[in-house]
Amino acid sequence: MNKNIIIKKPDDWHVHFREDAMLEVITKYSARINNRCIAMPNTKTPITNSLQAIDYKKLIEKNSKNENFQALIPCYLTENLDLVDFRNALKNNIFIGAKLYPTNVTTNSSFGVSNIEKIYDVFEILEKENKTLLIHGEKIDKNIDIFDREKYFIDEELTTIRNTFQNLKIVLEHVSTKYGVDYIKSNSNIAGTITPHHMLLTKKDVFLDNIINPHHYCMPVVKNENDLLALRKAACKNNTKFFLGTDSAPHEMKHKFPNMKLKPGIFSAACSIELYAKIFEEENSLDKLETFASINGPKFYNLPINESTIRLEKIDWIVPEFVKEKSIKIKNFFGNKKINWKVVDLNV
Ligand code: NCD
Ligand code: ZN
Repeated sequence: MNKNIIIKKPDDWHVHFREDAMLEVITKYSARINNRCIAMPNTKTPITNSLQAIDYKKLIEKNSKNENFQALIPCYLTENLDLVDFRNALKNNIFIGAKLYPTNVTTNSSFGVSNIEKIYDVFEILEKENKTLLIHGEKIDKNIDIFDREKYFIDEELTTIRNTFQNLKIVLEHVSTKYGVDYIKSNSNIAGTITPHHMLLTKKDVFLDNIINPHHYCMPVVKNENDLLALRKAACKNNTKFFLGTDSAPHEMKHKFPNMKLKPGIFSAACSIELYAKIFEEENSLDKLETFASINGPKFYNLPINESTIRLEKIDWIVPEFVKEKSIKIKNFFGNKKINWKVVDLNV
């Protein structure tokens, strides 16, 4: 009999569901194995008020093909938010928290925040309501190397936010460096999500000898071997401050690199929990997969831990190269490659 693991149903604390046909095609991939997903609000028209959040949640859940599935929506922070609506939406759990995108750091972040001091009233409300600030932690500047953006954000922005709002709960999303891991470990009220791709790729997988692989290009960009190893250790060694967030972020093939302009984002929803299982096994830590995937996240967000379970079996399978449906064609992360774990039972 093949090797099996049963874990409590996971949640994904960082996913992009997009809109229109793309949303209709991809939502079921995350809803397949997760009970809850945080749906990132960087849609073409960002989700900045309660009415949009209610509509977006309904739209995702309707397309999930899973009646128990819940989409959780953070507010996209701008420098001119309606604060009355924001506070009420937090109080009524319409927003799970708020997402800070520094301006122009990633896909659809042009409405984001250029000067954090301009949103101190937002941080104050979050802190008072005991709701979470989710952060895309990169600082962009012409003098900052693309590989150092996380470090500069931590030193020059995050430290200021934490010193000013000491009780504010923060998630540093998609941590990508050893520096970020160490910062989270040594400070309070802060946790981090870790993607599968930051534990599988280094910059050599993006910037090959004489060619760039656009399907491995994401923000924050994947880094060096020592960063990858630190992330693996943080996820796999039962540290309660790190949890599952795939940052599955699809772009249509035809939009991934038009006119040599790369769109950052990796679509991993079709094989995400299987990839995490593979990584945890490689780290001799399969017994810690459940803590990372299903326990640490709800604990940090003060939500109940899921009751149902899923079963993975050690079976080889090949991830299809693409998702092709309706007019949509997306490259799967790990497409055409073998994974040695597969979800075989839901709700065992
Ligand atoms: C994400 C996207 O495409 O929306 N891209 C990415 O490279 N991760 C946005 C984000 O989370 O940075
Ligand atoms: Zn993201």
